[in-house]
Amino acid sequence: MQKKSWTIAAVAAGIAGIGAVSAIAQETPQVSEPLSRSGFVLENGLAIPAFDPVKGRKLFAAKGCVVCHNINGIGGEDAPDLSAGHMERPMNAFDFAAKMWRGAPAMIAMQEDELGEQIELTGDDLAAIIAFVHDEKEQAKFSQADIPENIKAILEGGD
Ligand code: HEC
Repeated sequence: MQKKSWTIAAVAAGIAGIGAVSAIAQETPQVSEPLSRSGFVLENGLAIPAFDPVKGRKLFAAKGCVVCHNINGIGGEDAPDLSAGHMERPMNAFDFAAKMWRGAPAMIAMQEDELGEQIELTGDDLAAIIAFVHDEKEQAKFSQADIPENIKAILEGGD
């Protein structure tokens, strides 16, 4: 975890005697590639996790999302297609979780039926999956080879 670079910028501005520290601190940080992959901690102690689409590609399959959700033609068709082309841009990452929350009653009932239990996810897992769902390039690499045998068996055994 690294501190956001704008904090350093704000301190530097203070040292330089520019009286606009608070205005700079309120600016939206520029999200660079390395920052978006490593995560950081906000001033208030909240950790913003890494958004790792490569890990997300593996988790999307291994956690079983693929049993019901389709990406580029791979996966089940019982639930909304999660291909990147269907996603809003820019999108607040938490809106993805909010959509899952809205769909939760139907989704959990189906998971218990098809996977035998509700899928367990950590915040890091979810951040990785959200990154994958919004990453067209990473989705282009998604293939049957990403799907573990146990999940494949459920997909093939489905209705
Ligand atoms: C057993 C089937 C099943 C599994 C597994 C499953 N989902 Fe779903 N999901 C659904 C269904 C069905 C809906 C639609 C619910 C509704 O419309 O009420 C849904 C809805 C959603 C939505 C909202 C889509 C929208 O456009 O509103 C998101 C996001 C989502 N799921 C993400 C995931 C993720 C991420 C995983 C894996 C961690 C996952 N789902 C696993 C069945 C599943």
